Amino acid sequence: MVIAVIGAGTMGNGIAHVFAQHSYKVNLVDISEDALKNGVATITKNLDRMIVKGKISESDKQATLENIAKYTSIEKGVRNVDLVVEAATENLTLKLKIFKELDTFCDTNTILASNTSSISITQIAAVTNRADKVIGMHFMNPVPIMQLVEIIRGYNTSDNTTKTIMQLSKKLGKTPTEVNDYPGFVANRILMPMINEAIETLYNGVAGVLEIDTVMKLGMAHPMGPLQLADFIGIDVCLSILNVMYDGFKNPKYAPCPLLVNMVRANKLGVKSGEGFYDYSNSKKAETVSSQFN
Ligand SMILES: NC(=O)c1ccc[n+]([C@@H]2O[C@H](COP(=O)([O-])OP(=O)(O)OC[C@H]3O[C@@H](n4cnc5c(N)ncnc54)[C@H](O)[C@@H]3O)[C@@H](O)[C@H]2O)c1
Repeated sequence: MVIAVIGAGTMGNGIAHVFAQHSYKVNLVDISEDALKNGVATITKNLDRMIVKGKISESDKQATLENIAKYTSIEKGVRNVDLVVEAATENLTLKLKIFKELDTFCDTNTILASNTSSISITQIAAVTNRADKVIGMHFMNPVPIMQLVEIIRGYNTSDNTTKTIMQLSKKLGKTPTEVNDYPGFVANRILMPMINEAIETLYNGVAGVLEIDTVMKLGMAHPMGPLQLADFIGIDVCLSILNVMYDGFKNPKYAPCPLLVNMVRANKLGVKSGEGFYDYSNSKKAETVSSQFN
């Protein structure tokens, strides 16, 4: 079975890593040569870390890397593949364009999955002529470590497609969980209002950043506080997912907190911009955040 992964960024390289490590041939596709180079470098680094931890051998690493081929053209990268997992930038216009291309270039039986965090699978499927074979395969970050794959059934996704993707996810050692296609699916529908409420609590002056995160870490046994998690996800990503739910449900309970909106305007986007609720200008501190996921 050959899998094409579209996008070699944070999620794409993780998805390619997991498939390749489970002996699937992977065509990793990105419009950017640099993204492909960095993606494979990240996979190599993560495999090295697994060797140090005694989880895989040097020959497992070599076999995994040999399973990955790089492409800058979608047309060439998806030729004769059985499944495509799209993990390109979260942008509706871009995803619709990519799925139109995938529908043109892939064999008629190829299943087209998207790793989107918030875009409607039904809307993506509607630009193809195979809505029954379009499905959400929402991996969590970091992909090689996180257990869950949220499997999202679009309005027209067939039982057969769902069964194939559920079984395949299990073969990757993951726990797939089936949900229906409504804004935020399940993971973000529950997570984002919690993050938004934590920001609202800060905005209302009920407690400070550290206090809010400490309550949730030590009181609820969360591995990290919601504000630190928002920094890690990206404050802009949180805003855009909340807006998808706000627009999708037309319900004010999903309205993003004004502080969240202001932080995005001020380019305080979390770890990636060097500052969010915490300061990451000192690289040691940023490392403290990401090391929790290693
Ligand atoms: N980062 C997360 O924590 C996370 C978690 C779950 C799901 N997601 C979803 O995964 C997807 C990817 O997110 P990411 O964080 O990996 O983004 P990213 O910005 O790290 O990577 C996106 C990659 O897509 C590439 N790309 C853009 N246009 C392309 C095209 N036309 N063809 C091929 N490649 C193209 C870019 O060059 C880039 O390398 C998004 O849909 C996002 O919502 C992200």
